[in-house]
Amino acid sequence: MVTTEVSTDWQVMSRDVLMFYVNGKKIVEESPDPETTLLSYLRVKLRLTGSKLGCGEGGCGACTVMISKWDPINNKIVHFSANACLALVVSVHGCAVTTVEGIGSTKTKLHAVQERLAKFHGSQCGFCTPGIVMSMYALLRNKPVPSVEDIEECLQGNLCRCTGYRPILSAFNTFIDSTAGCPMGAKCCKNKPIQNGNECRHRLCTKYNIGCSCFTGFPETSDKNLMRNDDPHASQLVCFSKYDPTQEILFPPDLLIESKSEDPKTLKFVGERVTWFRPTSLQQLVELKSIYPDAQLVNGNTEIGVEANVRGRHFKYIITPLDVKELKTISVDDKGVNIGSSCTISQIKEELQNFIDSGSFTKYQTQCLESLVEMIYWFAGDQIRNVAAIGGNIMTASPISDLNPILMANESIATFRLHSRAKDRQVLMDQSFFPKYRTTCAEKGEVLISVFLPFNTKDQYMKAYKQSKRREDDIAIVNSAMRVVFHPGTCKVLKFVAAFGGMAATSVMPEKTMQNMIGKEWNETLMKDVMIWLRKDLPLALDAPGGMVEYREALAASFFFKFFLCVRGNLVEKGLTTLEDDLKLQNLTTFKPTDAIHIPMSTRTWQDTTDGQPHDDMVGRPMQHASGDKHTTGEAVYVDDMPTFSDELYLCLVTSIRPHAYIKNVDISKAVACEGFVTYVDHRDVPGTNEIPIAGELCEVFATSKVTCFGQVIGAVVADTQAHAQRAAQLVKIDYEDISPVIITIEDAMHHQSYFDISKNVVHGDAITAMATCDHVIEGEVRIGGQEHFYLETQACIAVPKGEDGEIEMFCSSQDPSMLQRTTATLLGVEANKVVSRVKRMGGGFGGKETRFLVVSNPVAVAAHKCGKAVRCMLSRKEDMIITGGRQPFFANYKVGFMKDGKLVALILDLYGNGGNTLDLSGGVLGKAVIHSDNCYKIPNVLIHGKICKTNISSSNAFRGFGAPQGMLIVESWMTRIAQFLNMTQEKFRDLNMYKEEDVTHFNQKLESFQARRCWEEVIEKSNMVQRKEQIAQFNQQSRWRKKGIACVPTKYAIGFPYNWCHGGALVHVYTDGSVYLSHGGTEMGQGLHTKMLQVAGRCLGIPLSRIHICETSTVTVPNTRATAASFSTDLNGMAVKDACDTIMERLDPLRKQNPDLEWNDLITKAYNERICLSTTGYHKTPGMFSAWDAETGIVEGRTACYFSYGAAVSEVEVDCLTGDHVVLQTDIVMDVGRSLNPAIDIGQIEGAFVQGYGLFTMEEPLHTPGGHVITSGPGVYKIPGFGDCPRNFNVHLLRNAENDRAIYSSKAIGEPPLFLASSVFFAIKDAIGFAREESGLLGWFQLDSPATSELIRMACGDCFTKQHEQHTDPKVEKGVKSWSIRA
Ligand SMILES: Cc1cc2nc3c(=O)[nH]c(=O)nc-3n(C[C@H](O)[C@H](O)[C@H](O)COP(=O)(O)OP(=O)(O)OC[C@H]3O[C@@H](n4cnc5c(N)ncnc54)[C@H](O)[C@@H]3O)c2cc1C
Ligand code: FES
Ligand code: FES
Repeated sequence: MVTTEVSTDWQVMSRDVLMFYVNGKKIVEESPDPETTLLSYLRVKLRLTGSKLGCGEGGCGACTVMISKWDPINNKIVHFSANACLALVVSVHGCAVTTVEGIGSTKTKLHAVQERLAKFHGSQCGFCTPGIVMSMYALLRNKPVPSVEDIEECLQGNLCRCTGYRPILSAFNTFIDSTAGCPMGAKCCKNKPIQNGNECRHRLCTKYNIGCSCFTGFPETSDKNLMRNDDPHASQLVCFSKYDPTQEILFPPDLLIESKSEDPKTLKFVGERVTWFRPTSLQQLVELKSIYPDAQLVNGNTEIGVEANVRGRHFKYIITPLDVKELKTISVDDKGVNIGSSCTISQIKEELQNFIDSGSFTKYQTQCLESLVEMIYWFAGDQIRNVAAIGGNIMTASPISDLNPILMANESIATFRLHSRAKDRQVLMDQSFFPKYRTTCAEKGEVLISVFLPFNTKDQYMKAYKQSKRREDDIAIVNSAMRVVFHPGTCKVLKFVAAFGGMAATSVMPEKTMQNMIGKEWNETLMKDVMIWLRKDLPLALDAPGGMVEYREALAASFFFKFFLCVRGNLVEKGLTTLEDDLKLQNLTTFKPTDAIHIPMSTRTWQDTTDGQPHDDMVGRPMQHASGDKHTTGEAVYVDDMPTFSDELYLCLVTSIRPHAYIKNVDISKAVACEGFVTYVDHRDVPGTNEIPIAGELCEVFATSKVTCFGQVIGAVVADTQAHAQRAAQLVKIDYEDISPVIITIEDAMHHQSYFDISKNVVHGDAITAMATCDHVIEGEVRIGGQEHFYLETQACIAVPKGEDGEIEMFCSSQDPSMLQRTTATLLGVEANKVVSRVKRMGGGFGGKETRFLVVSNPVAVAAHKCGKAVRCMLSRKEDMIITGGRQPFFANYKVGFMKDGKLVALILDLYGNGGNTLDLSGGVLGKAVIHSDNCYKIPNVLIHGKICKTNISSSNAFRGFGAPQGMLIVESWMTRIAQFLNMTQEKFRDLNMYKEEDVTHFNQKLESFQARRCWEEVIEKSNMVQRKEQIAQFNQQSRWRKKGIACVPTKYAIGFPYNWCHGGALVHVYTDGSVYLSHGGTEMGQGLHTKMLQVAGRCLGIPLSRIHICETSTVTVPNTRATAASFSTDLNGMAVKDACDTIMERLDPLRKQNPDLEWNDLITKAYNERICLSTTGYHKTPGMFSAWDAETGIVEGRTACYFSYGAAVSEVEVDCLTGDHVVLQTDIVMDVGRSLNPAIDIGQIEGAFVQGYGLFTMEEPLHTPGGHVITSGPGVYKIPGFGDCPRNFNVHLLRNAENDRAIYSSKAIGEPPLFLASSVFFAIKDAIGFAREESGLLGWFQLDSPATSELIRMACGDCFTKQHEQHTDPKVEKGVKSWSIRA
């Protein structure tokens, strides 16, 4: 019954007091601000900094917490994970929030999730870790014995940039159901004995892959509370606590009593700018909406929260309908299902699945429900699904909504209520429901009550499809739902209803196609006609928002083709039609949820420690990361976790919104008027010099009169809080005068001859003359895109002026504390001895914090100096992605000469890197690309010219691999092409040209201990590549639309800095209680450097690692250091640590000889009393390094590389040729790390680098508008690999017996070298595409640029569907129109 009376006086209603629980403690907040997020409240107000801010838009999971509340409808307590960055603190009124601090601690006891994650090496930098812990914890609270599917699903909303995910999945596998039972019983392959001590086999049944009983059937130890596992490291049995769900913290009893006994209370919270209501009945809700017709009805806040956090919007009135029972229920009758608009996506999935499984309905009836459930698997991650409501999805009217096409295709009915109207309005969800972009047909003040999905009938078929950049937790590029109704017992179409997302400004129905199909037979003729009709119904202009227009058109056609075949299969099964020969049905579905389950089977092997190594000498053993426990408990402190200093201020940058322009005027008047505004800083406030040197080039800290890229720092607002600083910064108005040209891409730069004044040329032999003698010469080009660092912790800095003598202390997330010190001193006009730089740890760096931390530290230092107070800044993800720049995109022109027998003779290569608006480290990056332009192959004559393009994008800088991956991808591209040309197998051709021991490279360095060939041969053998290649060929013969491919790639990676950088330092203090303080020149960013240094010091001093402590990296303990970069820090600082410890031991030696039985502590006491100095520094400079590279003549002399790290990988992929989707079925790696200092850390580096490289070569695509704006400015639009992208079978082997006399304890550098091995996936994809092209008669070589995104893969497959849609590539078609996005 609908009423129209107003019963509550909402305007005069008093404000409420917020009450909720956090980790069992009651929190009462008298005047909460409804704009404050739960994350901000936890971190700033409660100082619970375990939950992290990684993006602020629900896209990374770093902020995950568990929310528990009483569910009055189902009379039970519910627990669910949620993104604290989107949840508003007022929305948890009456709830219990659990954060990572609430479940375990190093001071008491780690929770089983925390303990296992740490012990399985599941954290590196640790910034993502608390969020991952909480996702798993929330799962266990609902399902103490989860399945593999549950684990996979609960992690879809979490990202990790370091680990490559495998160890996290391994850790969580230990919770899996041990009673389900492997069908193989005792014969399960997991029960096989471990072959040898240093083999580690992941306990997953290779036959049945998932959910296998023996998986957790770990034998119990004598301690009843411990379980043991032979994974991850068999040579060191890992014991961990049993998980006892009965010990979990209780829902607060007081809250339970209150929640059960009292009806929900109507609430009102009023903040600085926003008023928030929580009505408790439908009547109140519609009433409120009539009073505040512009109010947002916020359920999950996953749309509105992103608008506020990322786009800076604010909504004056918010009404949350979460206590309105009618909107929260799902009901079913014999006609269909009615879903309340506030039902969450998770609730819908669960309840619909129950209906489907209940047996009360036939399979054909529930097709639409199945489509919805299947689609929900690909909808966001658990944290979003648990709170986002269907009403929010419908009413947002996004053109890429995943639900709306299904609702439209199923002719669902939406019910609206308006306070002033007597009767509810029911509306068919067809095209008119979404009249324009992000608009529904809802009238002002209307509330969506529910949506009704009619059941399907016997002669109907329905399916839904989605393709996105990343399979998991990604919005659609195109999605679709289709439903066909046949005349009973025939294959004549009675009705066809379809809707597409991503093909227009709204979810769109192809109305003419739907009309034309009526009465037609479901046969191949119809299929071909539909392709033409769809093309007309769903046209996309070349500059259509979202870009990828040909691909999107091809996808729409491919989806219909999939649907056509699926329906046809059903009709054939029913005997209503026969199948034409040319339509093969196999392998036509998209990757289904079950296909995606892939907790990887994995093997890891390494070299054991030598016989006789004392058991307490930890070198060579798989030690856990020294901060592992602190990562998993959230106790590890990052810059923004530091407590605030008194009177601390917050800074927000003001940056350019033009790529190339003069600054005409800066107007700060509106900012000044903002609440909390303190000051504005720019170049006029710099006391020293505004131009600081970076890699030899003077760069402005604050732009003075001209900007040369979008995102360049012009000034900064300083305010009392972060929110105030951000609001005020948005109001600084800058007038620009644009400058021509705007140069974005390498091609633009080549056109305008815009280069930095630096070139890298190499001349080796006489390539021009030799080329003329070759049997064959091929020429071509290769493009490889850039990459965003996407470290989980964005750039952050706190500057604390000390008030005396110009002293200042800088806490910064920086890979180079000495550069921070130097630069701050120059900027402030003081000597370096007044500046102390301190770096405790970083939440990932990957090169992005080698120089670019300066964009934050410089303004913060100036502001702190000006205000005389501590100033803090942590960039938002959006700011970070726009301002800091990333990996250099590269373009290469190659000409290669070779003989009939396959021997390479000559290479002429022109290399171009996109450096952006400043040179930064791009000169070094170019040099590295040039040095790696041979990869592992001997090319007798080489001529390389390298240039760095000067463009109007944010400055490119260092990124793991530093140009080498780009250089090597170019080599492997032309190698692949030549092998194909010669009709030789890829392996044979590479084998033929691979270097041999003592060969000399094109940069004149002799190869000593050349291990690439060993890695190559071992990986081919271990991966069984030869046999698998045959199996793949057979599979491909049988399968038209899914193809497999395989490829093997070797790598040779030059280790070393320029020779004058090759030094490390250390400081050791031994205190009188025998404890040791260690400091060294390297920073910890997750790579395990501190752990390795502890191992080195432990061996030298002969004491347990627990006695040695590393606190931070600081310029007061070890001065004049080099950046922690180039994978070289273990080598440099390890030797320095050894040097310092050896000095101490030498001093102690006489005493030890005199008192051989003295324990360490007594020895130190004695030494102290005998006035032996127990403090020393250590220093190391790498001997024999020098490089003389004459850039003009191109002659390189000397030892450019200290040594080389080698490796090889084989990857196998399966490609869905209709969508361009792919999965990595298996990757095998053999890596030369010398004698590993810590196999667990080294394997972690290999897996992590591989997955990061996988992102580079297949998925990550920084995009700009043609006008130079950064499009990819958050995880919503820029995709790094997720859990679901980890190879399904991931095997890593460390090469044995590979000594290296040029680094500490015979180890080798590991951070960067494995990254390039991910190109094996790129070439496997290319292999698979080749098979697909053959089916269309497209033979021979074809170009595939990196990254091989689903778009490029689909379009390269080249079939009848792509041909239809290729016309956009003809520039004549839409002259002068530029595509929406470009790759720089
Ligand atoms: C990380 C992330 C991943 C995502 N992935 C996907 C995805 O894969 N697929 C997809 O389709 N979407 C996705 N989304 C979008 C979003 O989650 C959904 O649209 C979600 O369903 C919105 O629900 P909500 O309750 O959070 O909306 P809210 O933000 O709470 O509200 C959204 C809008 O709906 C209006 N509204 C809500 N209820 C009513 C009602 N009853 N009557 C009238 N108006 C109403 C509100 O006024 C508001 O304007 C994603 C979002 C994020 C942040
Ligand atoms: S910070 Fe919340 S999801 Fe990234
Ligand atoms: S450990 Fe996951 S982001 Fe660093």
